[in-house]
This record gives sequence, structure tokens and C-alpha cells, in this order.
Amino acid sequence: MAHDQEKKAAARASLAFVRDGDIVGLGSGSTAEYAVRFLGERVQGGLKIRGIPTSQRTKELAESLGIPLTTLQEFPDIDVTVDGADEIDPELQLIKGGGGALLREKIVASASKRMVVIADSSKRVQVLGKFPLPVEVIAMAEPLLLKKIAALGASVKLRLKKITALGGSGKPRRYANGNPFVTDEGHIILDCHFGEIPDPRALARQLDSLTGIVEHGLFVDMATVALIGKGDDVVEFRRDPR
Ligand code: A5P
Repeated sequence: MAHDQEKKAAARASLAFVRDGDIVGLGSGSTAEYAVRFLGERVQGGLKIRGIPTSQRTKELAESLGIPLTTLQEFPDIDVTVDGADEIDPELQLIKGGGGALLREKIVASASKRMVVIADSSKRVQVLGKFPLPVEVIAMAEPLLLKKIAALGASVKLRLKKITALGGSGKPRRYANGNPFVTDEGHIILDCHFGEIPDPRALARQLDSLTGIVEHGLFVDMATVALIGKGDDVVEFRRDPR
């Protein structure tokens, strides 16, 4: 699969941003998983890093690869975080959280000196918003927030739990079973279709002001570099310092 090759290439290129002795934020999702695997190989080869995972799944993967882990309690300053994204605009503003790990991802990114975003070419967009914006909320506030977020111009859906089961053909099949998807922190996710988001900063501020929202998937002014797989190449984009 072409996108898979691009994800791998971008993940491999991210190794150039990790130095011996670094505290490294370990992202979540399929692209970040490649980066964690490549880092695991480097660690086996003698690279000395300590990782801070952004999800339970990444934690287990890193442990299985022998990557030493630490916490923000021990190291509140992260040297570099490598993570994927669902959409990346020309200013390197991001939508993240397709995998449901946005809260820890944003905490880790906000503690990082540099955030390296890795993705295949389908993630680069002119304007954010085709991908529904994940918003992590306290379950009790769901009815209230469905209305308040809709008032900001979105159609909002509660994310349902997906189960992977084997279909009759022996192929994995995914379906919603009616139960809400629950995050690692025990919250639920609303997938919000805003259409085009021309001003991510303004929308982020509006969402930040709503009580009951724990976090949302707009990562504004956080990415330092984006490495985008394009065919056999990787194209590097940098955010202009403000
Ligand atoms: C996980 O919660 C997300 O933020 C992922 O980083 C994002 O969804 C990208 O995932 P893929 O690399 O699997 O496309």
C-alpha cells in the first residue's frame, strides 16, 4: 500500500531528529508506531533515550521493544516528540486524535521543545476540517456540549466503540456496537464535522472556553517540523518562527 510506504519513510526520516540522551515523546497511531519500531531498533543498537508514551498501546509497544520509559514527573521537559496527524495545513496546524489518544498526545507535545509530525501524503491539506475534529469530553457534559458545539457550526456525533471481528470470509470487519468509545482517561469523544476550518486558532479558543471539554484535536502552533512521505521521498516542512 502506497500510503503505508509513505508512513514508513516519514517515520524513518524522523530518526534524524532524535539524539543520544534525549527524552522522546512517543506518539500514537499507525505512523507513530513505525517510528517507535525504528527507535526500538536504534535502542537495540545502543542509542540511549528514554521515552514518554502518549497512549497505553504505545506504552506496551515500546516496552515490548525494550525502549526505556519515563514520565513527565521525572522529566517535565521533553526534547523531541514524534507523532502522526490526521490533517496538516500549510502553517503546520494539525487535527489529531483519530485514534482517540489526543489528550495525552497534546500534553506530551506541549511539554516538548520540538514536535516532529510524520504522515503520508494524504494528510496534507490546504484547509483543515475534512477530517472530523475529535473533542474529548466528560461524559456527564455530553448533552450540553452536543448543543454548544453545534452552535459553533458543527454537526456532532458521539464516537462509538469499534470492534474488530472476523467476518464470515475470514476478513477483519469493523462495526459499531452502540457503546461509546472510551479514552485511556475514561472520557468520551465527540467527532465534530465543522467543514472547512479557516481559522484554527479562533476555533481552538472557542472550544477551550466550553466547560466539560477536556481537550480537542486542534494542535495549534505546536508542530515544529512535518515530514511527509511522498512516493519514495520524504518532504520536510518547517513552521516559520513567530
Ligand atoms: C491518535 O490519537 C492520532 O492523533 C494519530 O496520531 C492520528 O490519528 C494519525 O494516525 P495514523 O498515523 O494511524 O494515520
